[in-house]
Amino acid sequence: MHVLHVVGARPNFMKAAPVLAAVRAHEGVRQTLVHTGQHYDANMAGVFFDQLGMPQPDLDLGVGSGSHGAQTGEIMIRLEPVITERKPDLVLVYGDVNSTMAAAVVCAKLLVRVGHVEAGLRSYDRSMPEEINRLVTDQLADFLFTPSPDGDENLKREGIAPGKIHLVGNVMIDTLVRLLPRAEACKPKNLPPRYVLVTLHRPSNVDDPAWLASLLATLGELSQEIDIVFPVHPRTRQRINGLNLPVSGNRVHLLDPKPYLEFLALQRYATVVITDSGGIQEETTFLGIPCLTLRENTERPITVTRGTNVLLGREISRVPAELRRVLQGEVKKASPIPLWDGRAAARIADVIAPA
Ligand code: UD1
Repeated sequence: MHVLHVVGARPNFMKAAPVLAAVRAHEGVRQTLVHTGQHYDANMAGVFFDQLGMPQPDLDLGVGSGSHGAQTGEIMIRLEPVITERKPDLVLVYGDVNSTMAAAVVCAKLLVRVGHVEAGLRSYDRSMPEEINRLVTDQLADFLFTPSPDGDENLKREGIAPGKIHLVGNVMIDTLVRLLPRAEACKPKNLPPRYVLVTLHRPSNVDDPAWLASLLATLGELSQEIDIVFPVHPRTRQRINGLNLPVSGNRVHLLDPKPYLEFLALQRYATVVITDSGGIQEETTFLGIPCLTLRENTERPITVTRGTNVLLGREISRVPAELRRVLQGEVKKASPIPLWDGRAAARIADVIAPA
């Protein structure tokens, strides 16, 4: 059996790493790793392969950045001949980025079976490009590996045959469980004792100049009470620089994007996290760190119902009050989420390559 994995963007890498390792443990399975090149900066891609212990990609399609149509189309153009020539029995795609959907469309048309890792998540907000990617990918996939029961329910509601759905748990947590001890050893020596860790990169937060300016001003205000540690995504950095936006307060620390282990350490020791990322909502819930999410909805509702996540929507004025609650020790308690246990990838391998 030949399994071909397609990855493209930073959040794909920590999901694919445990699946590659788990499938490797099954005899008689050949694997190929294709990187689309959607993310290409060393600190957005290469360093992750090293830290996660992933094999180097067999192929890098080098697509780079572009508008959604251009980027998605370019991935499809470059991936199609690879699938035709290499004839995999199954292609695994991860998460909800443009590379995920592009690969699913190519494979479905070539009648190659597709497995979607992290299937079934829905924000029910089609203004998010990721929601379009999730919907299309799940309609086309032959195997749908879900992280939590809400995913199964969403898929059944959309008419997906229950036999295709496999509740396996959260592969990103597999990587976290494996690498947390190493991350703890990477704790930066100069970290302030208490700090807010911030990440922002969604178009809804960084593409509107007035909104982005108000977010930065709020961070400046918060920094009068507590240090702000903010590793800045390239697209956010471009917006801040392009608009010449002021970042006030000498306790606001703007950093370059961090490698996996260093970023996990920053989460682990944070007092509170402010984010618009999907994966960080899950990681903070697992770690029991309070998380304030600057989005109106989440495709990961279990992090709100059972975890430490609070959705703040567009109510930026709530941030200081929520922060103060956390600083006074009023912290939402998380209860463990079933199957977020470090064994999700092994369950996927058992489905696709039964002994
Ligand atoms: C993509 C995903 C998003 C995910 C995020 C994680 C889609 C639709 N979006 O968003 O779901 O949460 O990755 O990071 O697939 N850039 C660089 N260097 C890089 C990569 C990007 O400078 O290595 C800059 C480019 O200017 C590029 C911009 O970031 O135009 C956006 O990159 P892109 O891959 O289009 O989307 P992300 O915002 O990274």
